[in-house]
Amino acid sequence: MKKRIWLVGRSGRLGSALEYRIHQLFQQYELIATDQGDIDILNTLEVDRFADMNRPDIIVDCAAISDVTWCEEHPEEAYALHAIGARNLAVAAENIGAWIFYLSTDFVYSDDHTTPYTEFDLPNPKTVYGKSKRAGEMFVRTHCAKHTIFRSSWMYGKKMLIDLIAKAKKEGVVDVGANRIGSPTSSLVLSETILSFFEWQELGTFHISCEGEASRKEFAEEILRLAGVQAEVVSGDPQGTYAHLLPKYSVLDNMMLRITGHATMPHWKEALKDFMGQRKIGG
Ligand SMILES: NC(=O)c1ccc[n+]([C@@H]2O[C@H](COP(=O)([O-])OP(=O)(O)OC[C@H]3O[C@@H](n4cnc5c(N)ncnc54)[C@H](OP(=O)(O)O)[C@@H]3O)[C@@H](O)[C@H]2O)c1
Repeated sequence: MKKRIWLVGRSGRLGSALEYRIHQLFQQYELIATDQGDIDILNTLEVDRFADMNRPDIIVDCAAISDVTWCEEHPEEAYALHAIGARNLAVAAENIGAWIFYLSTDFVYSDDHTTPYTEFDLPNPKTVYGKSKRAGEMFVRTHCAKHTIFRSSWMYGKKMLIDLIAKAKKEGVVDVGANRIGSPTSSLVLSETILSFFEWQELGTFHISCEGEASRKEFAEEILRLAGVQAEVVSGDPQGTYAHLLPKYSVLDNMMLRITGHATMPHWKEALKDFMGQRKIGG
């Protein structure tokens, strides 16, 4: 029997990578992929009706407003999507006996660590984005017994890398802003790991980030090195009204993956090389 997947947020960075992979696995999975224009997850009745009519086995919530500044300035919209939208999907999943997967973020942590956060460290988000995603995690946990929450970080897709390389070629210098430290994570690796969870159906909260850590500058330098582009990468002090709220250090330790005996994640440099090769980016 094929598992039926309802993918919410199909056109986003992660949503589109997931949609592509699930289509390739059509013998295993039947896909229903939606965006706001198809089903607005803020509409409780619409979500309930859609879930009841289509009866997915799995719901994946990739819907987000990932612009941190916009979220600070529009807190109600951010909480509505990340918390109430997630609640609506969790309630619908519970009603039809489906498993829900909710995508969360390294921004649920604040910046007082200098070593990687495990799933057992207490979140303490400072941004509206992080707080609203944390609220979504709580709603999912409360309203659907069969749930998995993923926290990932610094996810990149093709567009981000192409834009950076193009800017470096054109201007000879790229400014990566404040030199924060995190774990760059390929959307391909992330979607592959999420797909494995469709089979494992392991309950709880999991960090799924590539291994190792990098500053914004090191990450950009590695992209340009792999693309064979000579350019200067500069980074400076945090800029912008909300910069002080962003975590300076948000490396995730994938402890739950290790202790439940599931996949290990590749090092970020290895995953980046593989991504650029597969997506034919650079030289
Ligand atoms: N990007 C990162 O570095 C990162 C890191 C860690 C975790 N995450 C998490 O991973 C997930 C995916 O992130 P992403 O970067 O792929 O996001 P993204 O590119 O910003 O895409 C977000 C998606 O959400 C959809 N959406 C927005 N409002 C909606 C609504 N009311 N109803 C239904 N769908 C709606 C958007 O559809 P429309 O285009 O139609 O509005 C879009 O397809 C998010 O949960 C994010 O928090 C991201």
